[in-house]
Amino acid sequence: MSKQEKTLIMSVLMTPDMANFSGNVHGGSLLKLLDQVAYSCAAKYCRQYVVTANLDQVSFKDKVKVGELVTFYSRINYVGRSSMEVGVKVMAEDLRSHEKRHTTSCYFTMVAVDDNGKPMMIPPLNIESEAEQLLFSAAQERKKMRYEMTEKNKALHVDLTQEKE
Ligand SMILES: CC(C)(COP(=O)(O)OP(=O)(O)OC[C@H]1O[C@@H](n2cnc3c(N)ncnc32)[C@H](O)[C@@H]1OP(=O)(O)O)[C@@H](O)C(=O)NCCC(=O)NCCS
Repeated sequence: MSKQEKTLIMSVLMTPDMANFSGNVHGGSLLKLLDQVAYSCAAKYCRQYVVTANLDQVSFKDKVKVGELVTFYSRINYVGRSSMEVGVKVMAEDLRSHEKRHTTSCYFTMVAVDDNGKPMMIPPLNIESEAEQLLFSAAQERKKMRYEMTEKNKALHVDLTQEKE
């Protein structure tokens, strides 16, 4: 499997329709683009329809301005039986100064599904370098942490929907 089949790069110009009330790019606009990139990277890798199962904590380190060119670098870090971890790094570029800033990195879990929406087996990841092994091992560790976090969150959950008005 070539590197091209594990990676996908998408650049999008930040236009005024993506702005929030302060004139910078709305977080929701970036989240939508992030999901589209993760979808494309995962579907291209496994050649199947995929759904988003999870998005790890997204932290916006810096604001993105209207007029900047945002580039999403995505890569398949890990493949299980039907799931994939897609890592996405976001760089914003000022087109006049060419200055680039790393604004966000996050990890999606995408799951390949069949026509009935059921998870389906996908090809295992062919690890071709030491760097890819490091990415794979880190993703395995995150998968474990995600599971632990889900269990902890269940214990912390407070259900107010049954409360009388
Ligand atoms: C994701 C989905 C297909 C999983 O179906 P499921 O019957 O729970 O599947 P399983 O428990 O057999 O898990 C299948 C794989 O998904 C992974 N997975 C399931 N839920 C997950 C979650 N919340 N986070 C991370 N991974 C998850 C499992 O680890 C497993 O991975 P593996 O096959 O590589 O070992 C199902 O929950 C779904 O359709 N969710 C809605 C997706 C969606 O609509 N997304 C858009 C949001 S609006």
